[in-house]
Amino acid sequence: MLKRPEKRGLPGPRVRADNTCRAEHATTGTQTMADTRPLTQAFPFLGTGPVSTEPYTSPEFFELEKERIFRREWLNLARDEELPNPGDFVVREIEPCNASIILVRGEDRVVRAFHNICSHRGNKLVFAEKGTNSSFMCRYHGWTYGLDGALKLVTAQDKFFNLDRADCALPAVHCETWSGFIFVNLSQPRQSLREFLGGWADFATGYPFERGTAPAYMSYELKANWKIAVDAFQETYHLGYLHRKTMRNMYFTPQDHSGSFLSIDLYGPHRRYSVWANGDYKPPESATVEHLARRFGRNINAGATAGETPITDLCPGLNPTRAKNWCWENAFVFPNLVVTFTPEIWILSRFWPLAQDRTRWENITFYPKPKTASERFSREYGFCHLRDVAAEDVDTMEGTTKALLSGARKTMHLQDSEIGVRHLLHTVENYVRPKPGRAVAAE
Ligand code: FES
Ligand SMILES: [Fe+2]
Repeated sequence: MLKRPEKRGLPGPRVRADNTCRAEHATTGTQTMADTRPLTQAFPFLGTGPVSTEPYTSPEFFELEKERIFRREWLNLARDEELPNPGDFVVREIEPCNASIILVRGEDRVVRAFHNICSHRGNKLVFAEKGTNSSFMCRYHGWTYGLDGALKLVTAQDKFFNLDRADCALPAVHCETWSGFIFVNLSQPRQSLREFLGGWADFATGYPFERGTAPAYMSYELKANWKIAVDAFQETYHLGYLHRKTMRNMYFTPQDHSGSFLSIDLYGPHRRYSVWANGDYKPPESATVEHLARRFGRNINAGATAGETPITDLCPGLNPTRAKNWCWENAFVFPNLVVTFTPEIWILSRFWPLAQDRTRWENITFYPKPKTASERFSREYGFCHLRDVAAEDVDTMEGTTKALLSGARKTMHLQDSEIGVRHLLHTVENYVRPKPGRAVAAE
């Protein structure tokens, strides 16, 4: 039987020196989402009023987003495990900046990033999406580059005029890695990647990302604005309605459909929030396949399996209120990376703007390698469930974008637990149209 926790006053925002600010609900007893004291009170700089639809619909605003956000900030392109050995490379597109980037591990094991362009006449150097090379040869006239980007071979060199080979190295891109996440920055970074991640990196420190050795991929080209796509991961309010057939009973109780979080932290432009699950959830008797899948795979709502180190021992930042019915953490790295942490699997989404009303969504779910056929079955069932949930989200991302483009509404109304939507919009505004004195995050 779920109990409503004892009410107490909203704790004041906890503000730390690293620009982190937290709001949380009470965690005494069994947590329920009926505890609805406003989280928003902890973040007065975000306000509570309606927000403008213009940033989702304006082509001019989109042009500024490309220049002032995607061309200037750290962007996650890959995981370290994708390039295990010297010579391994991947090519990643940053569409909002018309940039194609080669990430390659050198002989010294350092991962470097280069623009994917030949210095001769500008041909795209690497057409493959990934592979292993000892060098990169341009298919047009045969110029060849080392793993460190240096120009190694010029065909018919004696026919060129005073060629400065050093100047013809591949254009390098700033590249840094934190906990296996490889980021690039197309400009001169204002701060190191670690400084940029700030409190978000503190929160995620220790999570065993490397356990997810069996990834599963989804990819969509959405007819949606990139922020509308991100917003689908910034609140749990919609789980009871849009996902009523796929998720509702796992996350809501019959008494409460408000979708409140357990707690939320803002870390400058980044954030994370803790999600409650209904630990009493049982599939209906008729759902025999779901019953089987849950028998052979970990219940997403559960904590550590007996005998295992609790996930919060490895990663103390997870479930900071130590709520009994915590099930996952949703975390966002500005501008376009969403990471979902559970005790066993973790999920990564990147949202790449293609146009004001189009977005490429990359989604990777990192599972531990199944040890038995039964575990494999359970994993496949779980992934199909996520696919069905994603399909529901896609419809809404596209429908919202199309409806907003009609211009029929100039504002949107956000409830307390949609604070992530408000925070993203606030942060984007700060980059695109900075106003002196406007807070970036907690102050
Ligand atoms: S454009 Fe690459 S060798 Fe000519
Ligand atoms: Fe959703």
